[in-house]
Amino acid sequence: MKQRLALPVGITATGQFYPERIVTNTDLANLVDTSDEWILTRTGIRTRRWVEPGVASSDLGAEALKMALERRGITADDLDAIVVATVTPDMFFPCTAALIQHKIGASNAYGFDVNAACSSFLFGLTTGAGLIAGLGMKRVAVVGCDVMTSIMDKSDRNTAVLFGDGAGAAILEQVEEGYGILDFEHRLDGSGAPFLCMPGGGSLHPSTAETVAAKMHYIHQDGKEVYKRAVRDMAEVSRLMLDRNGIGTGDLALFVPHQANVRIMDAAAKRLELPSERMASNIGEFANTTSATLPTALHQSVETGKLHKGDLVVLAAFGAGFTWGGALLRWV
Ligand SMILES: CC(C)(COP(=O)(O)OP(=O)(O)OC[C@H]1O[C@@H](n2cnc3c(N)ncnc32)[C@H](O)[C@@H]1OP(=O)(O)O)[C@@H](O)C(=O)NCCC(=O)NCCS
Repeated sequence: MKQRLALPVGITATGQFYPERIVTNTDLANLVDTSDEWILTRTGIRTRRWVEPGVASSDLGAEALKMALERRGITADDLDAIVVATVTPDMFFPCTAALIQHKIGASNAYGFDVNAACSSFLFGLTTGAGLIAGLGMKRVAVVGCDVMTSIMDKSDRNTAVLFGDGAGAAILEQVEEGYGILDFEHRLDGSGAPFLCMPGGGSLHPSTAETVAAKMHYIHQDGKEVYKRAVRDMAEVSRLMLDRNGIGTGDLALFVPHQANVRIMDAAAKRLELPSERMASNIGEFANTTSATLPTALHQSVETGKLHKGDLVVLAAFGAGFTWGGALLRWV
């Protein structure tokens, strides 16, 4: 198999962190006109975690990264760079990477944020790998962290039931030939912007009393359009990578799709003719944590013994933009 990067780069450790507060579907039914049955059958979500006021993305990201460092047996000082994937930075600036760097005391690292909505971690992963393969760095952390409750209208049943808060982290290093990121495919189509966005608070509509009254600082989406595109596009890029590397579905140990809706995930897996046992799923417990879905699903697959050295893994993501893509890895 041909390696796309100039050097083999792989994930050598993972970590995760969720806030403690568990919010059930029944809790949500006390806030908006919904039910446990509707949420479960339409999305597969049973519970999600919500932060307490004052807890931000960098707090979750720093904890997830500390776990990944510990699992790898290295310290924060060993990091050359921190790439943070998030759509809910603590503030517009400084970047969340700076806040995490300070919290964990990574005195030798530089860093920056990547925002490609729910594809942020995937794009951050290959960007981080590029820092090693192209710029000669030794150890790069990629952190996916989001506090979706900070941009979610808790009185809007269309979105309030879908998202949760959480963080996942991965350490990237040069690995043995034939391991790590073997291939990737990334896409961007800005004609999708109106279908999923947070219209207020940016340079187009700076925050004013009027934008806040119009709830422009919250997620707006056309769920049906996002649904259709997510299924089609995640399946298409995954198939493309498998085909061009001569990998049959039977050879794939694990499919790790973005966790937005279990029906989207199942439909994408079905198009790939993959049985559900070979799909990583944490949406039931944690809902859609945006930038954290892929690294937490990977971390949990490692921790539960579903992912072993040599396994072929496909990551697939889809998000606002539209942004989407995939990566093919041989697990280290
Ligand atoms: C949002 C989503 C769950 C809705 O599921 P759906 O099967 O498409 O449902 P519909 O849009 O057909 O809505 C059916 C009805 O349920 C209602 N409804 C929406 N949310 C509801 C809720 N939480 N509880 C009860 N009813 C709800 C709708 O208002 C609609 O009612 P109407 O027919 O009277 O207008 C689904 O479209 C989805 O998951 N889309 C992708 C969203 C996403 O993943 N976003 C992030 C991408 S990274």
